Amino acid sequence: MKKVTVPDIIAAKGQRKLTMVTAYDYATAVWVDRSGIDMILVGDSLAMVMLGHEDTLSVGMDEMIHHTRAVTRAVKRALVIGDMPFLSYQASVEQAVINAGRFLKEGRAQAVKLEGGASVIEQVRAIVKAGIPVQGHLGLTPQSIAQLGGFKVQGKDAETAKRLIDDALALADAGCFSIVLELIPAPIAERITEAVPVPTIGIGAGPKCDGQVLVFHDMVGLFDRFVPRFVKQYVNLGQQIVEALQQYKREVEEGVFPGPEHSFGMAEEELKKLE
Ligand code: KIV
Repeated sequence: MKKVTVPDIIAAKGQRKLTMVTAYDYATAVWVDRSGIDMILVGDSLAMVMLGHEDTLSVGMDEMIHHTRAVTRAVKRALVIGDMPFLSYQASVEQAVINAGRFLKEGRAQAVKLEGGASVIEQVRAIVKAGIPVQGHLGLTPQSIAQLGGFKVQGKDAETAKRLIDDALALADAGCFSIVLELIPAPIAERITEAVPVPTIGIGAGPKCDGQVLVFHDMVGLFDRFVPRFVKQYVNLGQQIVEALQQYKREVEEGVFPGPEHSFGMAEEELKKLE
């Protein structure tokens, strides 16, 4: 099976739509990979959907590497991208390169993602120079949630929209192989997509991006603390799991499970020896 590479992702621009989904563990990554999805993001959203935190700020490098290793053990085809957590790249260029390297060296990912525009350009350049592919992330950047004042659409006026376009151009120029656009008006995402030479991957950014990304737990109904408007729930696994567990409970209580087909016998003569 041919593995999806960074050049494959770049070459897809204008040719076909790209897909990306998050995964944080071995079992989920097996199924996501088998579905033919192009890219698997080990997102720092795991802080919220896997670990129950309020936001993405409280996961660190060791947790992200732990989850990335679980995912890469499962994946045969998709490009795996490790999400650099809060404060793993903002403080210095040197720290950014070392931490990005850990995702490849220890996590066995093929690329990293980090949030921000102009403020992280030096980090992006240095990581790319070290031979590590970088995916950018603009718009609603959850690690800056305190500064942004909540999970709100970004770039709604001409001035902030212009800043987003400039940031996207700067990220592409610094060597990003693709850019996530989160929660920005569809016409601005379309302009950015036309302006940059690398694929844009949208989430809440309209249909004109080069690809789309969704958080796995949102799209399969495993996380319902809140469901953003841009999420489409393709299946309600949460409800199906509850129903399966209720049936199991009922069958155990009623003596229906385990049946003979789930139990193991023993030779009569061996049983007699116990008497
Ligand atoms: O952490 C994450 O899941 C993300 C996606 C929403 C792009 O950054």
